[in-house]
Amino acid sequence: MNYIGSKLRLSDWIIETITKTYTQSNSSRPLSQITFAELFAGTGIISRKLKLSVNQIIANDLEPYSCILLKNYIENTKAIPNERIVFLIEELNNLSVKTQNNKEPKGFIYQNYCEGSGSQRLYFSDDNGKKIDVIRQKIEEWKVNNFVSQSEYFFLLASLLESADRVANTASVYGAFLKQLKKSAQKNLVLSPAHFPKNENQDNRVFKEDANELIKKIKGDILYLDPPYNARQYGANYHLLNTIALWDTFEPKGKTGLREYERSKYCKKNEVETAFEDLIKNAAFEFIFLSYNNEGLMNLETIKRIMSKYGSYSLEKTEYQRFKADKDINREHKANATMEYLHILRR
Ligand SMILES: C[S@@+](CC[C@H](N)C(=O)[O-])C[C@H]1O[C@@H](n2cnc3c(N)ncnc32)[C@H](O)[C@@H]1O
Repeated sequence: MNYIGSKLRLSDWIIETITKTYTQSNSSRPLSQITFAELFAGTGIISRKLKLSVNQIIANDLEPYSCILLKNYIENTKAIPNERIVFLIEELNNLSVKTQNNKEPKGFIYQNYCEGSGSQRLYFSDDNGKKIDVIRQKIEEWKVNNFVSQSEYFFLLASLLESADRVANTASVYGAFLKQLKKSAQKNLVLSPAHFPKNENQDNRVFKEDANELIKKIKGDILYLDPPYNARQYGANYHLLNTIALWDTFEPKGKTGLREYERSKYCKKNEVETAFEDLIKNAAFEFIFLSYNNEGLMNLETIKRIMSKYGSYSLEKTEYQRFKADKDINREHKANATMEYLHILRR
């Protein structure tokens, strides 16, 4: 998923720095015995890549769509048999979007986020909007009828979120839709399986809480934090993924069809510092790693000052080429260099 602040391209550097720092620290336990927590997990890429190296993962994010991705990628540990995956995915891909007597489909996505319904919004092609509706509805029916297990339920929902996102008609986030269907949005939605790393001995936990609340209830060895850097609220930018995740009904607002959303303190200049210090103060972890770049609401000095109060502080950095334009819209990717930091605290 093309996610704001995604650490996919930085993940090898981040994981290498975390593991190197931990193993060189003479900590009493090997990495394979530790609890690793990630409280702003988004797509969960860091926990996903570390999953097989540690004993337990605690992953959290405020947003419902993210929580579903994490329930699948992190909390799911036991393999779903391949024949079962093939069967479930095929059943969903083969669902018909046709209604009886050619009546107008009633699905929420088609009705509110596709042009053919008269919604005046073009987030998905008509066919893809209808397809998302029937697939999402069927997954919910299967859950209610106990036809799928909890693990399969989250696996299928994560598969739908990822597959729907691939055909969304946006420049990358859902704050606005494009006026014309872009090439990738013209393609038919095909549900593809969101495979997760397997480790049957793990008991991982996923939460959907404000990080500042959750931190008071957990403890562990390594804490990785990747809060938002700027004022862009994730709930507004990914509202449609939340709608698919929550599968509720509401009155979409305005031109973009926004829903009510959570506002994060980490996206507010006058609240972020207090929230951040409160988080660090309450963290019962030996190591804390914070990703933050040089264009964020908090500057380097502020972060250093706050973290240094609670233990021994150090800093690692790497230059990062950020690509701004969406592939479909502008083939001339403009790389723009920024510095990415990993602030480290050992208590
Ligand atoms: C920079 S992104 C994390 C990206 C992630 N590392 C990845 O690679 O996908 C920040 C995340 O913090 C979440 N978030 C914002 N405020 C939060 C809060 N108070 N508590 C928990 N999560 C929060 C957002 O929903 C978003 O997913």
